[in-house]
Amino acid sequence: MLRVGILTSGGDCQGLNAAIRGIGKSLYELYGEDKLEVYGILNGYKGLINCEYKIMKIREFSGIVNLGGTILGTSRQSFKSMRVIGEDKIDKVSEMKKNYKKLKLDCIAVLGGNGTQKTADLLRQEGLNIISLPKTIDNDLWGTDVTFGFHSAVEIATNVIDCIHTTAMSHGRVLIIEVMGHKTGWLTLYSGLASGSDVILIPEIPYRLDSIVKTIEKRTSQGKNFSILAVAEGAIPVEYEKLSKKQRLEMLERGLYPTVSYKLADDLKSVIGQEIRVTIPGHFQRGGSPCPYDRILATRFGSAAAEAISNEDYGNMVAIKDEKIVRVPLKDIAGKLKLVPPESDIIKSARDIGVDFGD
Ligand code: F6P
Repeated sequence: MLRVGILTSGGDCQGLNAAIRGIGKSLYELYGEDKLEVYGILNGYKGLINCEYKIMKIREFSGIVNLGGTILGTSRQSFKSMRVIGEDKIDKVSEMKKNYKKLKLDCIAVLGGNGTQKTADLLRQEGLNIISLPKTIDNDLWGTDVTFGFHSAVEIATNVIDCIHTTAMSHGRVLIIEVMGHKTGWLTLYSGLASGSDVILIPEIPYRLDSIVKTIEKRTSQGKNFSILAVAEGAIPVEYEKLSKKQRLEMLERGLYPTVSYKLADDLKSVIGQEIRVTIPGHFQRGGSPCPYDRILATRFGSAAAEAISNEDYGNMVAIKDEKIVRVPLKDIAGKLKLVPPESDIIKSARDIGVDFGD
């Protein structure tokens, strides 16, 4: 009997259920119902710590390819806290190991982003058989060209900016749309470019106010009375460039700015005559059905994870490189952030058509 655990951890995203389905269906195809038990671990690593799970029969994997969120539930359990024994006196790592043994698991398929992959690697080092899958709307995982969730979120953010475009035109306003993406600018870059944004601000390229002012003024002189600014939640004003993330947040707080977009709006207000508005779609970007690209990518990752399990090849993350599905060692990717290379072709194309990155 093969016993496989599946868990989803960290922020949810579109495509998680398609990936769960990909793993489950492929495993049942390979082993049949008599030789396989699938344990759906509930609410991320928390479920593994507390031994909360459900047995997943083959029927559980049907009808979920287009479903957003995760049927297993998820939670944020920071990597840093894993080794810390809190008030509950629970040693999280040894509890996870204990429950893995208690359930007689042969392996766990872990679906998650950066923090999740770090904990997956920790469990690997502790002797557990792990295969992981790369999910996140941020697309910031090292070792894979794309993560599932990313393209669905690009679609949503693009739609938001498209809608804002028409109202910006009608009112002759400067509209700032703040896009998720944590410390990286992938989501802002893609949605900003797809929606024809005039200014795209990403953490990888700190921005100067005067560059943005110049762009808005140039547009006004060309008879364009509105401007669209796609701003990553992690965008960095040059004056904050040398500060740590914590210090940057403190500076924003000091200015009573909930986020960087409000600081930008305030800074712009003193130099341009136009009305300015800020829109933050927030978790909207992580919700709803996965787009077809993500359904397919998640299915491919799911079947690849099942194949790795059948090969008993553990300690890897399945990934996509140059359109090929590959396995990359967790030890090589855990804790590494995939940033937007400022010299990349996509940035060049955007610059070629006049997009201002604020530098
Ligand atoms: O990692 C996905 C993400 O949506 C980031 O883009 C964002 O910074 C963060 O999660 C928000 O986290 P939470 O859902 O915990 O507020």
